[in-house]
Amino acid sequence: MATDTESRHGMWSSRWLFILAAAGSAVGLGNIWKFPYLAGENGGGAFVLLYLVCIAFVGVPIMMAEVLLGREGRQSPINTMRQLTRQHNRSALWVLIGWAGVVAGFLILSYYVVIAGWSLFYIGQMASGALEGATGAQADALFNDFLADPWQMIMWQTIFMVLTVYIISRGVVKGIETAIRWFMPTLFVLLFVLLGYAVTSDGWAQGVDFMFGLDFASLDGNSVLVALGQAFFTLSLGMGAMMAYGAYVPNSAPIGSTVVIIALLDTVVAVAAGLVIFPIVFANGLETGQGPGLMFVTIPLAFGQMPLGIVFGTIFFVLVSFAAITSAISISEPALAYLVEEYNAKRSRVAISLGVICWVLGIGTVLSFNHWADVHIVGNMTYFDFVDYVSQNIMLPLGGMFIALFAGWALPKTVIGAQLGIDDGWLSVLWKIVCGIVAPVAVLIVFLGVLFG
Ligand code: TRP
Repeated sequence: MATDTESRHGMWSSRWLFILAAAGSAVGLGNIWKFPYLAGENGGGAFVLLYLVCIAFVGVPIMMAEVLLGREGRQSPINTMRQLTRQHNRSALWVLIGWAGVVAGFLILSYYVVIAGWSLFYIGQMASGALEGATGAQADALFNDFLADPWQMIMWQTIFMVLTVYIISRGVVKGIETAIRWFMPTLFVLLFVLLGYAVTSDGWAQGVDFMFGLDFASLDGNSVLVALGQAFFTLSLGMGAMMAYGAYVPNSAPIGSTVVIIALLDTVVAVAAGLVIFPIVFANGLETGQGPGLMFVTIPLAFGQMPLGIVFGTIFFVLVSFAAITSAISISEPALAYLVEEYNAKRSRVAISLGVICWVLGIGTVLSFNHWADVHIVGNMTYFDFVDYVSQNIMLPLGGMFIALFAGWALPKTVIGAQLGIDDGWLSVLWKIVCGIVAPVAVLIVFLGVLFG
């Protein structure tokens, strides 16, 4: 490889720790909270299929591109792009990918932490037995009362932000690796326990039918954009998070198969989360399309009904919080690494400043659910809807498109070949086609479709 083999920020202890860290980044609120409700709002199965296509043909190649760029540069995305464009005589405009990623990261982290705070709140609610035997209306009321109270929300947002800052300030190995070593395996085990519960519930068949039944009539152009945006979001793509994590990957790890494993893990968790939630929705006669409240109303409701529900429900929200925190730490890594490099600053100082900025931005999200609920930024979008839409549906796909174009066309074949461990044969042609053409064109078509459709 052309450059240093170590990053100054630290290195993953092994290929499997990278897989866990990247899966930790990928598996988050996007899988457990967002994917089920998006599938619910967009008619289920047909949307799921669309989403899987986006993961396979757009997500996987772009994740490979991010990881290989990161490993080639061994720095934050901004400095990696700087170095690569200089080294290979490419336009400095490509560095904008890194900058856009930092901006997107601030926006995403700001609201991510707020929603993650909701899951912290529900740990307490479940543990105290507040939902034991609750009716649908009571579960609904609990959530709505919580959303109506900005101070409560700010308190949980603050706690979650402090935890995130604490972990990232301790560094890549001591902070991030330690967290994921514990949180990820536990998450998988619990999800399968819950799946077992869902299988035995009355709504199982209906839930499966909803997730996998193909009703194309419920799709429109916007569903395609939403599916693509979700694919980017759930795989943590398009803003340099995987590039930042890629910078810490040992040279010996094969990128292709590693990325496929990460994408599979992420997809399994998303589908499993849907299969846990929808049967419960149907068994309790609730609505699938109720949006963001899906996980915070139906899941607590279901646990309130089940034997040992207090225990399992508490653990469920602990784990959602773990999943969220292993993601939150990755969203901040591009900006964090950049500031450390640029100012030779202490990681802990940078982490705190970053946390404060995102916390302030997050207040807007908190207020979007109460005092600012009727303040519309564009159309009928609240501040939260707007920040979410712009970052997830516009910035991530565009960022991903340019990353794919850069890795597909601007980097010399030799660099790609060395990183991916392929020679100049058909695999290298396949890379050009998938990463250089298919992935970016797919993003472009969806965009044009939305603009003109
Ligand atoms: N993938 C995470 C989830 O599904 C969220 C996330 C982490 C993310 N890092 C990211 C999203 C970087 C976009 C970009 O919850």
